[in-house]
Amino acid sequence: MKLFVYHTPELTPTGDLPDCAVVIDVLRATTTIATALASGAEAVQAFRDLDTLMEKSEKWLPEKRLRAGERGGAKVEGYDLGNSPLDCTPELMEGKRLFISTTNGTRALDRVARAQRVITAAMINRYSVVEYLLDKQPESVWLLGSGWEGGYSLEDTACAGAIAQGIVNVSTVGNDEVIAAISLYTQWQDNLLGLFHQASHGQRLLKLNGEE
Ligand code: MLT
Repeated sequence: MKLFVYHTPELTPTGDLPDCAVVIDVLRATTTIATALASGAEAVQAFRDLDTLMEKSEKWLPEKRLRAGERGGAKVEGYDLGNSPLDCTPELMEGKRLFISTTNGTRALDRVARAQRVITAAMINRYSVVEYLLDKQPESVWLLGSGWEGGYSLEDTACAGAIAQGIVNVSTVGNDEVIAAISLYTQWQDNLLGLFHQASHGQRLLKLNGEE
């Protein structure tokens, strides 16, 4: 297995795809996706743009679907949900299909949608992701941060580092970013909440009353 870390979708090589892409948007899309599935959602469908989400979800029975739309950290008007994992309760999610579009996370998913395997990772499911990769042994793995509108996000790279740390040995390092991500995670691993407060999107969410 060869691991590569890319901080943003824009930094991934063009015209190339890995055997397995691991898309990371800790704050908050991939945390929301993991929570929705853990709460009994029957599936999650992610969309880069809101129009396609509406068109595809329209074909689904209203009582069997939930639409989640987020832009700039806020809920999009007319949607059932924004992008808070706290909304993904078993009462709401059980048996429903979640159709979701977010500012960066679903755009990152779209960038690697044609890779042989695509999975999502966040801090809350990082151990499962490590287990999955060790079990499947894909030849090439991209740990892809979603960032914020083309820029770097501290929490995504820290999560990439957490996953890489569980797998890495000398022969699995594909780029220098793997080592940098592991160093970042190692520095913050005992204070992840502090890292979320430090991160620019963490601060954006605080301004939107997103502390919880
Ligand atoms: C995104 O995709 O940029 C996010 O998940 C933003 C958020 O809702 O916090």
